[in-house]
Amino acid sequence: MKYFLDSAKIEEIRYAYQNWAIDGITTNPKHIQLSGKPFLTVIDELAAEFAGVESFPISVEINPHLNDAKEMVKTGIELARKSSNFVVKIPCTEEGIIAAKELGKEGVPTNVTLVFSPSQALQTARVGAAFVSPFVGWKENSGEDTEPYIRDIAEIYKTYGYQTEIIVAALRNGAQIVKAAKAGAHIVTCGFDVYKSSFYHPFTDYGLGVFRNAWDQTVV
Ligand code: E4P
Repeated sequence: MKYFLDSAKIEEIRYAYQNWAIDGITTNPKHIQLSGKPFLTVIDELAAEFAGVESFPISVEINPHLNDAKEMVKTGIELARKSSNFVVKIPCTEEGIIAAKELGKEGVPTNVTLVFSPSQALQTARVGAAFVSPFVGWKENSGEDTEPYIRDIAEIYKTYGYQTEIIVAALRNGAQIVKAAKAGAHIVTCGFDVYKSSFYHPFTDYGLGVFRNAWDQTVV
């Protein structure tokens, strides 16, 4: 199971790479806004930070105002030229899927994002996108159980031998990471705080207290 960090903040990306051995990064326009830096500054920082690091996918999202496949392809190619690690993140619209197919022909890997149904995931895999990003948190916030939807995508991909890797996205807690893993996701992408909290359990702290106390009374 691979862990990607969903962030555009270079300090937390560096920390997560050095300490948690994260396997890749996903960004989106919201994360760029939260970084407080202009889009191109963040893009250049990410390219420089991981220059020379092989097989480390960094998803960078195209301008969300683009709604024409040709323009998406042009922008995608420009972004991909900045780093061999860049994966172009494209919205799951009809034009987006057409663009993903064209970018694939140009040798540019894509991550089709804003996916909310198995039928969108199927369209994504049919054009050979490298990654698909089905969102979980947004659906769960509106009361949906997302485990069957992720399981369906994983099962369909297995049935047809699609190579597209499933990045379960917009996760809010460790329990959702586990659900994604059980449902057959290849990757999860989470914010820094979600990973941070997934190391902890109150009984671990409680148990440490018990063992420290015992240690202090037996070790001379
Ligand atoms: C995934 O690739 C997205 O960047 C991400 O998970 C978006 O959702 P969020 O910002 O609500 O977590």
